[in-house]
Amino acid sequence: MRKKNAADAADAAFCARVAEGFVEPGDAMPDGYRATLIRQMSQHAHSEIVGMEPEGNWITRAPSLRRKAILLAKVQDEAGHGLYLYGAAETLGTTRAEMTRQLLAGEAKYSSIFNYPALTWADIGAIGWLVDGAAIINQVPLCRCSFGPYARAMQRICKEESFHQRQGFEIMLALARGEKAQREMAQNSLNRWWEPTLMMFGPPDGESRHSAQSMRWKIKLHSNDELRQRFVNMIVPQARYLKLRVPGSPKKDRRTGDYSYGPINWEEFRNVIAGNGPCNRDRLRARKKAEEDGKWVREASAAFAKKHLERRAA
Ligand code: 3HC
Repeated sequence: MRKKNAADAADAAFCARVAEGFVEPGDAMPDGYRATLIRQMSQHAHSEIVGMEPEGNWITRAPSLRRKAILLAKVQDEAGHGLYLYGAAETLGTTRAEMTRQLLAGEAKYSSIFNYPALTWADIGAIGWLVDGAAIINQVPLCRCSFGPYARAMQRICKEESFHQRQGFEIMLALARGEKAQREMAQNSLNRWWEPTLMMFGPPDGESRHSAQSMRWKIKLHSNDELRQRFVNMIVPQARYLKLRVPGSPKKDRRTGDYSYGPINWEEFRNVIAGNGPCNRDRLRARKKAEEDGKWVREASAAFAKKHLERRAA
């Protein structure tokens, strides 16, 4: 009993500490806080890196030089986001090599959304508009999360994500104003990406095992359902502007102003995060190949750093 009281007091003291300002890497923190951050930040970093795959595949097939240059820059940004996040997670005592090992061994998750294929050019528009749109809704609050390095990384990432969303919307706008076949392609993409994008926010609140504790620690500032609803409220008017139909025909609740959505196939979500989505195997195969192909670069740079240090010491 006395032990439990002491643990409760320590937890309350840490929650009070979190309310005062950023926790920095050298500060005292509960083991659970550290482990939760490493889990979430590494999952986030892996998502950025795996997220390059569906879009990277379209760089050579983008319909103009302008579109190629923009997509190339966007995919490069995602690589940068992964690096900031791995770097921020490393301040908690893990290493990038260990996080990569966990990803390749299937021990660490990455966002379910990147296990769906980009089949048409409109899918690149839908990814920017919807997936990056969802990322912004989820990630802007993280700029105020309790862990300093994560919050600061998110500030830069969010600025770039808003450019990403606009480029996706612009692709959709061009298609929506185009010929019948282009409008159909845009509608088809919205139909396929809508539900998987809603799943990005995580399971419903009643099934989210980490939310309550993460919100107490300000690792998350809003619940999964709350952010999902914000996203729907943002996208429905944008889809109307594009003259596209959102699946499920959302209705506005006059009292709350919220649009309806769903139902969501949570069985499919569970299946995808268990490794059985349409592209899970391809995505991991590509990461394993990249790890293998990049081995000589890592070895060469480690050898160079060692030589440099030895010279300096001499
Ligand atoms: N995909 C895969 N796994 C998911 C998931 C999703 N969309 N949503 C939830 N999960 C997993 C959780 O990781 C957890 O599994 P674990 O215990 O094995 O780690 C389990 O499902 C239970 O879910 P919880 O709601 O309890 O988990 P969290 O509290 O961690 O909430 C989250 C999930 C909302 C995704 C939260 O981790 C979060 O906000 N993360 C930061 C943002 C992030 O990682 N975004 C990924 C997309 S990045 C991106 O989109 C890149 C951009 O360029 C487009």
